[in-house]
Amino acid sequence: MSAVLKIPKFFHKHFVNVEDLSKKDIENILSLTQTLESMSRKSKNFIAENKIIANLFFEPSTRTRLSFESAAYSLGAKVLTVAEPNTSSISKGETIEDTIKVVSNYCDLIVMRSSNDLPLQASAVSDVPVINAGSGTLKHPTQALTDLYAVKKKFNKLSNLNIAFVGDLKHSRAVNSLALAFSKFSNNNFFFISPEELKLSSAVFKKVKEKSNVSQLDSFNKILPELDIIYLTRLQRERFKNFKKFEKAYVLNSNSLKNVKKNLIIMHPLPRTNEIPVSLDKSKHSYYFEQAACGVPVREALLTLLLKQKKSV
Ligand code: CP
Repeated sequence: MSAVLKIPKFFHKHFVNVEDLSKKDIENILSLTQTLESMSRKSKNFIAENKIIANLFFEPSTRTRLSFESAAYSLGAKVLTVAEPNTSSISKGETIEDTIKVVSNYCDLIVMRSSNDLPLQASAVSDVPVINAGSGTLKHPTQALTDLYAVKKKFNKLSNLNIAFVGDLKHSRAVNSLALAFSKFSNNNFFFISPEELKLSSAVFKKVKEKSNVSQLDSFNKILPELDIIYLTRLQRERFKNFKKFEKAYVLNSNSLKNVKKNLIIMHPLPRTNEIPVSLDKSKHSYYFEQAACGVPVREALLTLLLKQKKSV
């Protein structure tokens, strides 16, 4: 494998939290991502030949689950999928520990999403690597890497940027994870824009503040002209009841984009609701579909690293 593909060192058996990665780990993953993205499917489908990936999704997903599946197939692996929690024996009361002890005998790597920290529990008992595909309101580490890769592709750097995170920051695991990952890179200014009730986790805010310039605001209008990136996120209606009053709080429109930098990009982990109208999709600033496309090569890189590390960690 390494004769044709240079695989960086990666000393993690599992990947459940973006905070476990060093800046060097992130740089290595993004570099491998770039290499894999430049390769045809045919030229990389030996990497995970004869491997089996189990996707256990106990919460809905389009991008994360299907990009992991696409990545696995591109690398030559086969995929087992639980995409509906009610079809697994967890719905009969089986513990996550028992589930993982069994499933880890059926596969070489487990990808897992849940509404709580099941991926962390799974990693404690799993003989095969576990990747967190989104858990609770704080952790979405593979989305954070996808977003960093998308930013690097656009700006060719991850430093000296002005970034606004906008919307329901309290419940957005994409924003919480990306802010932590981004704070490993220097001289960035982060603006966290939300209603008081939907502020970023105070623990995450504190950690980001230790390394970066941060501000908390309730409107993006005044700072729009300074921004390189505006990262919107939807109201997570499934996680709290009184969301209705916030529905129109942060909606971009063409007027919002009148005085922005020419290279401003609009990012969003998707799915969107009403915060970015479809009419903005053709704007030169819109970048969220390109961002989503980055999910496949990033997940290819993660599968490559963790499958390769399996025996040596
Ligand atoms: N961004 C993201 O996690 O999307 P899905 O919920 O569709 O996987």
